[in-house]
Amino acid sequence: MQRSQRLDKIPPYLFGEIARLRAKVAAEGVDLINLSIGDPDQPTPQPIIDKLCEAANDPQTHRYDESEAGWPEYLEAVAEWYDRRFGVKIDPASEAMLLLGSKDGLAHICWAMIDAGDVSLVPDPGYTVYKVNTLMAGGEVVSMPLLEQNGFIPDLSAISTDAAKAAKLMFLNYPNNPTGGVASLEFYRDVVRFAKEYDIAVVSDIAYCDVTFDGYIAPSLLQVEGAKDVVIEMHSLSKSFNMTGWRIGFAVGNPDLVTALNKLKSNLDSRQFPAIDIAAAYALLNVTNDETMALYTKRRDTLVDGLNELGWKVNKPVASLYVWARVPKSYSSAEFSKLLLTEAGVLVIPGNGYGEHGEGYVRMSLTVADDVNGDRIAEAVKRIASLNIRWD
Ligand SMILES: Cc1ncc(COP(=O)(O)O)c(C=O)c1O
Repeated sequence: MQRSQRLDKIPPYLFGEIARLRAKVAAEGVDLINLSIGDPDQPTPQPIIDKLCEAANDPQTHRYDESEAGWPEYLEAVAEWYDRRFGVKIDPASEAMLLLGSKDGLAHICWAMIDAGDVSLVPDPGYTVYKVNTLMAGGEVVSMPLLEQNGFIPDLSAISTDAAKAAKLMFLNYPNNPTGGVASLEFYRDVVRFAKEYDIAVVSDIAYCDVTFDGYIAPSLLQVEGAKDVVIEMHSLSKSFNMTGWRIGFAVGNPDLVTALNKLKSNLDSRQFPAIDIAAAYALLNVTNDETMALYTKRRDTLVDGLNELGWKVNKPVASLYVWARVPKSYSSAEFSKLLLTEAGVLVIPGNGYGEHGEGYVRMSLTVADDVNGDRIAEAVKRIASLNIRWD
């Protein structure tokens, strides 16, 4: 049997590899502290679960959702949430659609927009989904380096005119995975100007916009005047409300981009269990997840302060679930991750898994399944301290 050649264009899924490694080490009896995947460990807030149960008891939710782009009550809640959260008006009938989590939309926008030879501008390091789906769809990837000295913001003036002219999509993700970088409205204004000049559709991934600390408030790219001419923004309830397993998200923005994505997806899936849509609508408009954010803040401080006391030079992120830490100069990302795993039982992700500009870093997640108020993170720091690594 010969599988499709498009699968040969991409490496194995990063987290599949990490899961295999984790299982192997756990089978050896190691007390592993898992700082790898960003998957909220706290339960979904109870009122959302209660709403799901109530909606699941209504037989109207048991059939296919045959709406145009997603359960109307849900899309109306999305529009209301955009207005409240960003002051951005969205027409739920033409500028919004339901996604099965934001990964669904981020992957499939490539299949809706990219033909053979088309270019996607992709952040490096970055969430791998943008790149692999561009490649599978037959497109080409031009990296936009995210460098620490630029605050992990791409330098638009460094994109060659040829690449800009060939680009059909530009992916942006702020607050950023894996670097924890954040974007200003000023940068977003430059992006909209650039995208209009070169006729590029911008895909803005704001999966972490409400995982924020120290009073930081993340903007939306759609807040920029005229952004709707070129921008589709994607978000989900996964990280904001501890709902990764629920698979519920949305895309909003330019109606042509929304229509294109919806045309593709209408032929791929049959939307979500409507009871989940109803519970998600309720969550967006009625629930805050402050306790979880306070817990992440405690973990972030324990980790960053602890590592910096050991002589590391780690920035405290104001958003996202990640600490992006430089490795000592004498190690590669992979070597250092291996050292932490084998000598300290601490699982982190080597930065080069997110692209060549991730080399020299490791990503540590604040979602630690068995952590109580930072105790496992403190234990991870203690174990790392006992390695007596020279930090220069
Ligand atoms: C940057 C980024 N975007 C999107 C997603 C996808 O999340 P979901 O599909 O659960 O919305 C993730 C998941 O880790 C992510 O890190």
